Amino acid sequence: AMTQELDLKRYIRHVPDFPKPGILFYDISTLLRNADAWQVATGRLARAIAPWQPDLLAGIESRGFLTAAPIATRLGCGFTMLRKPGKLPGETVTLTYDLEYGSDSLAIQADAVKPGQRVVVLDDLLATGGTLAASVQLLRKVGAEVVGASVLIELENLGGRRKIDVPLHTLISYES
Ligand code: PRP
Ligand code: MG
Repeated sequence: AMTQELDLKRYIRHVPDFPKPGILFYDISTLLRNADAWQVATGRLARAIAPWQPDLLAGIESRGFLTAAPIATRLGCGFTMLRKPGKLPGETVTLTYDLEYGSDSLAIQADAVKPGQRVVVLDDLLATGGTLAASVQLLRKVGAEVVGASVLIELENLGGRRKIDVPLHTLISYES
């Protein structure tokens, strides 16, 4: 019963003016450090993702690693990393994407995904959606069938969901 009722929003700390003035930072460290709440959160994510029947979960550096890795363990599937360039050994594939100001890049090992493997990509937070949309594209470049995406927190007013062309599950959402 406690598990069903637990309001996870109570464990997300809001930090005004971080990392810059005017930005409200949604801090998941207060969720991660609470054993019971983190257990509930990962359980809910795992239950939402299981019906997509993934072979592999992909986590986006760095906070996406925190959500993807425990859920891969729970679901009994593999885990792969989408990393900032220059961090992964061997042959890699990189994708550069536009930000509001400037651009960013993510890389994956060329052999990270077997052709046609069902992959679900995870991150902690969906804001503009640029990071998650680029991750879906990058996974496709290495042969993945991206069957879904999941984030802990969605900031609905930024409209990031519109950029995601796979089923998207979010655990906690804020309207503004
Ligand atoms: C944050 C967050 C998401 C991304 C969301 O990552 O963890 O990955 O931004 O923003 P978007 O939807 O507008 O693309 P950040 O770049 O701060 O790096 P980190 O995860 O390594 O802390
Ligand atoms: Mg991130």
